[in-house]
Amino acid sequence: MKQGRSWLLLCGHVFLCLSAISALATPDVPAGQRPGCPANCGDVDIPFPFGIGERCALHSGFKLNCTITNGTTKALNGNIEVTKISVPKSKIWMKTTMSRQCYFPATRSMNYSDAWVNFTNTPFSISEVDNKIVVIGCNALAYMTSASYVIGCYSTCKDATLENGKCSGAGCCQADVPKDIQYYKAYFNENYNTTKIWKNNPCNYMALMEKAAFSFNTSYVESTVFGETYNKGLVPLVANWKIRPWSCEVARKNMSSYACVSSHSECVDSTTNVPGYHCKCSKGYKGNPYIRAGCQDVDECLENANPCGHGICENTPGNYSCSCHPGNHMTDGFCVPIQKSPHFPAAPVVGASVGLVVFVIAVAGACLMQERRKLQKIKQNYFRQHGGLILFEEMKSKQGGAFKIFSEEELQQATNRFSDQQVVGHGGHGTVYKGLLKGGVEVAVKRCTAITEQHKKEFGKEMLILSQINHRNVVKLLGCCLEVEVPMLVYEFVPNGTLFHLIHGNRHGRRRISLASRLGIAYESADALAYLHSSTSTPILHGDVKSSNILLDGDYMAKVSDFGASILAPNDESQFVTIVQGTCGYLDPEYMQTCQLTEKSDVYSFGVVLLELLTGKKPLNLNAPDDEKSLLMVFMSAVMENKLEEILDDQIKGENNVEFLEGVVELAKHCLEMCGQNRPTMKEVADKLDRLRKVVQHPWEQQNSGEDQSLLGVPSSLASSTIVSDEYFSIKKNAIKNLQSGR
Ligand SMILES: *[C@@H]1O[C@H](CO)[C@@H](O)[C@H](O)[C@H]1NC(C)=O
Ligand SMILES: *[C@@H]1O[C@H](CO)[C@@H](O)[C@H](O)[C@H]1NC(C)=O
Ligand SMILES: *[C@@H]1O[C@H](CO)[C@@H](O)[C@H](O)[C@H]1NC(C)=O
Ligand SMILES: *[C@@H]1O[C@H](CO)[C@@H](O)[C@H](O)[C@H]1NC(C)=O
Ligand SMILES: *[C@@H]1O[C@H](CO)[C@@H](O)[C@H](O)[C@H]1NC(C)=O
Ligand SMILES: *[C@@H]1O[C@H](CO)[C@@H](O)[C@H](O)[C@H]1NC(C)=O
Ligand SMILES: *[C@@H]1O[C@H](CO)[C@@H](O)[C@H](O)[C@H]1NC(C)=O
Ligand SMILES: *[C@@H]1O[C@H](CO)[C@@H](O)[C@H](O)[C@H]1NC(C)=O
Repeated sequence: MKQGRSWLLLCGHVFLCLSAISALATPDVPAGQRPGCPANCGDVDIPFPFGIGERCALHSGFKLNCTITNGTTKALNGNIEVTKISVPKSKIWMKTTMSRQCYFPATRSMNYSDAWVNFTNTPFSISEVDNKIVVIGCNALAYMTSASYVIGCYSTCKDATLENGKCSGAGCCQADVPKDIQYYKAYFNENYNTTKIWKNNPCNYMALMEKAAFSFNTSYVESTVFGETYNKGLVPLVANWKIRPWSCEVARKNMSSYACVSSHSECVDSTTNVPGYHCKCSKGYKGNPYIRAGCQDVDECLENANPCGHGICENTPGNYSCSCHPGNHMTDGFCVPIQKSPHFPAAPVVGASVGLVVFVIAVAGACLMQERRKLQKIKQNYFRQHGGLILFEEMKSKQGGAFKIFSEEELQQATNRFSDQQVVGHGGHGTVYKGLLKGGVEVAVKRCTAITEQHKKEFGKEMLILSQINHRNVVKLLGCCLEVEVPMLVYEFVPNGTLFHLIHGNRHGRRRISLASRLGIAYESADALAYLHSSTSTPILHGDVKSSNILLDGDYMAKVSDFGASILAPNDESQFVTIVQGTCGYLDPEYMQTCQLTEKSDVYSFGVVLLELLTGKKPLNLNAPDDEKSLLMVFMSAVMENKLEEILDDQIKGENNVEFLEGVVELAKHCLEMCGQNRPTMKEVADKLDRLRKVVQHPWEQQNSGEDQSLLGVPSSLASSTIVSDEYFSIKKNAIKNLQSGR
């Protein structure tokens, strides 16, 4: 069953990518406050039944006072500061005082400050699960009393080793909080004090506080740091709150005071001896049950894992329903393809090729069924980790260790928390940020902005495609980040912008580009596309070739980018792409008719890029008169009327360039043939451009041309001069012939 295993692994791979990419931000929960009432006080969210002032709170027990003292905003309930409120948990976080017993050398006496909390006749009670009683000191016996309890503990340093994080009698002791108390007062037993040991242990402390916020530190014994740490003796306390004093049954009888007013909400009785109830949203809803229409439908289909696996999920009020894509049917709750896949035995031959990946997507149904069964047993987080590792290994083996899984934090740091100042572009379906990794490596981070299923899939596809490619003229994918809701891709940083900006200028104006440089960039882009079409095991069609997708590095070397619209060439007649993507002005007219993306569609789009390079004009100029809107039309009519000279870019027009320009014009025309079959292959285009650029760079030419070659770096690897002159003459001959024939 070795085959079966590797299949599963691949499924994991694909599923991981798609599922990581389909992870979605949870939709905003409504503010949860009544209309016209402030929903927050400083950083603290104030959901109803709490409210600022009498009018906005359910009753005075939930009333908060939002005050600003000394520039800091505080939400106060009575005189207790509130820092957080949770409606679903019915909890509230507050700051309460701790008790202290300190020795004052000046008066040679102990000074006491005893803390107390009195929640009697308020909605609050102290949570026994979230808090604990801690006592700190080397000779301390402290206790708290409540209506019917006395609880305390003794802490000593005698014959004991104090340890950070450990609170079990040595310098620190702790006790559990009794259930659901509303009142306590803390005391120190005065017979245990620090009179004799104050130099090493000035104070004893006692606090009833949030468990999670406390961790013993030996410095708490040796100094007064504990008292100072918690904001001058204030410690966090977690309290439960409820609507008092009735049970659900009684409360429902008087609807004018019943608090669970939202539709799709339920009443839950308090489980403690203090009578009361709280409200919650019914299953499938979330929000605030205490306000009208506060409980909102949860869109299960947008939750992290599609509850329908790879089926089609449709949200319904309070629930969701699953159906299958065409060609699949539901079996045992899973979507599986209707036909038995005939391709299955052939798969191992294709191996781990790109084709297989597409193929896997096609027959993913069967695979995913297995994967999903496995998934159900594993927690989502674990799976991500697990799948992330498989992906990581796979990428590492392909890219010689260069591929990296980045953590969200790394990328946040690198991009200054995705600051707007770091934005370098808006690529297909994503925003691109410039980032600086630790170690000074510059990267471009692309963050998926669109959140439709289609866009997320394209993002994943780009990752899969780019991870297969290693070509110096294709932008390199360094890694990705999967642990976030929005997937991100990390590329090598290409510093000199896009070819579009180079040709058409940016806000700094337009710079001069020699013909040689233009041909160099054109050749490198063509070479990259030719490689995509032919060199990889399954052809990759770029699908959106345009000058703004050709990036330029420090030496103005071209790097083809943005594979969001790319596809792996279908090896099966039945599976061609039906969604027109691409960009207006570059789109293959044949593709628009047949909806079938082919290698020749890329050739056509590349022909438009050549026109841009030749004319310095944009492919579409919507401000121009009708017959001049499209660069192609302008170009074609110039060819017809033998007025090419008029539309060529002034920068490259010089007399000595005529022959070469004719060569490029001829090539562009050839690429822009209406019928795809008549267009050259990308390989032929690249070869021709290679020959042309070598002639243009020929020393004899450079001497005689008045061009400023130094403006843009030109690689100096030239072919031997004999070949160059042969080419030169053949091109010149063709050019003359073409000029004569007027074609
Ligand atoms: C709110 O607090 C301020 C300052 O502590 C006090 O002056 C004011 O009376 C309080 N308002 C209410 C409604 O309790
Ligand atoms: C306000 O701030 C000043 C200086 O920062 C401080 O001296 C004063 O005690 C503060 N007052 C209150 C009420 O916190
Ligand atoms: C004891 O502490 C209180 C405040 O906690 C302070 O006002 C008082 O001055 C202290 N007494 C001595 C003798 O230091
Ligand atoms: C607690 O407060 C209530 C009213 O708010 C009061 O009646 C009661 O006496 C207080 N308990 C103690 C021990 O101070
Ligand atoms: C400290 O404790 C001793 C007994 O251990 C007691 O005799 C003494 O009075 C206490 N001192 C103070 C200031 O409470
Ligand atoms: C303990 O406290 C000291 C001083 O406040 C601090 O430097 C140290 O990091 C703390 N140690 C731990 C484990 O929290
Ligand atoms: C119902 O609740 C309202 C508001 O709290 C109160 O005024 C009224 O007396 C209650 N009616 C009964 C029958 O308890
Ligand atoms: C929600 O839908 C699922 C299947 O679509 C069904 O099994 C379940 O019973 C439904 N739950 C409710 C509360 O209707």
